[in-house]
Amino acid sequence: MAVSIVVGTHWGDEGKGKIVDYLGENAQVVARAQGGNNAGHTVIVEGEKYVFHLLPSGVLHPGKVGILGDGMVVDPSSLLGEIDFLRQKGKDVSERLFLSSKAHLVLPYHRILDGIYENIRGGGKLGTTGKGIGPAYEDKVSRWGIRVGDLEDEKLFAQKLRVTLDYKNLLLERAFNQPSLPYDKILEDYLGYASLLKPYIADTSRMIYQFYREGKNILIEGAQGTMLDLDHGTYPFVTSSYPVVAGSLLGVGLGSIPNLEVLGVCKAYTTRVGEGPFPTELRGGMGDYLREKGGEYGATTGRPRRCGWLDGVILRYAARINGITSLALTKLDVLGGVGPLKICRAYLVEGEEVDDFPVIPHLWDKCEPVYEEMEGWEEDISLVSSYYDLPSSAQRFVEFIEDFTQIPIAIVSVGKERQNTLVRKEIF
Ligand code: IMP
Repeated sequence: MAVSIVVGTHWGDEGKGKIVDYLGENAQVVARAQGGNNAGHTVIVEGEKYVFHLLPSGVLHPGKVGILGDGMVVDPSSLLGEIDFLRQKGKDVSERLFLSSKAHLVLPYHRILDGIYENIRGGGKLGTTGKGIGPAYEDKVSRWGIRVGDLEDEKLFAQKLRVTLDYKNLLLERAFNQPSLPYDKILEDYLGYASLLKPYIADTSRMIYQFYREGKNILIEGAQGTMLDLDHGTYPFVTSSYPVVAGSLLGVGLGSIPNLEVLGVCKAYTTRVGEGPFPTELRGGMGDYLREKGGEYGATTGRPRRCGWLDGVILRYAARINGITSLALTKLDVLGGVGPLKICRAYLVEGEEVDDFPVIPHLWDKCEPVYEEMEGWEEDISLVSSYYDLPSSAQRFVEFIEDFTQIPIAIVSVGKERQNTLVRKEIF
């Protein structure tokens, strides 16, 4: 029996969707544990592009059980849209998809409040995806949340919505001078979603445990990344959930697992979308080049991603926080033809060299990267089908990261398609 967790090592957008899709082939169960439709996981199969926001990307493989776990916040219309999109593409997931009754619902006031909070912050805004994720988790923690399971009982749902909406309307009208939201319309919409979602609602934590006991391969698909984690990321420029491995276990309702495989997905350079510190960011020049060559535009919002050299200090930090057992290095092909390459191996902070990510936020903007410079390669490596056919400088780049982190690189991805994946060690 095996449980593998895929986790992003930086600020999300590491290419987890492709890696999960690849590993999904040997899994019987694929799960999302936390976050919501702020995530955007792109998978390209036979030239067809799929962007997943809520569904685990592994469901693209026929017959795999897909689970949306307890720790998620779910916008029902977005979920139904994704299910429908797959149905139109001839990939019906209706018999094999399960949605945790403990997951929380995203409601219209969450999206509105997300925008209001950002406006109030002004210049200090977080750059959220605007999907209502923060306010939905805020309600979960303050116990105003309405859960997926509440949709199963119409009367109960109507009651909960009445009380919660009264409070939210008070907030909207009195605190923010905004129009109130119509109870009847929201109730009608959500009861409509309820009738469509009921067949999927389940006790997914129990199901996962059962699958685990039966010896099935379970793949938990991380969303966002370590540096967006509410506790361990660049707070407050983070998301409102726990993308780290502990959050994945919590979010599917599993306890400690012997021989847990933790695959850290790391891009060959670093990107970030939204505001907040980013020590290796390259403004203009090389940053623009990486953005265009790597297609670095947000899969959820279309925003241009900020780009920079690979931050090895953060990679090592992510390895520690998540207990990463192997790495997948993605988008190595994008670095072809770039010239000498750089990997940040330490920071200079107020004249002192440090090799761990500082815990004190006011130091983050003072981190000056100390780079290891490496020879690049000119060739297009996207058609290479074996690791040993890569140019020697590309192999050295990979092996430097291995030495630096002391973690084996199991997978090297050199292109968008499933077949552009060089496997050095099988995960399942
Ligand atoms: P929120 O999750 O919409 O509240 O956004 C908070 C921060 O997390 C913003 O900087 C977003 O750009 C970032 N973020 C959220 N989800 C993702 C993701 O899947 N990939 C990359 N960044 C994300």
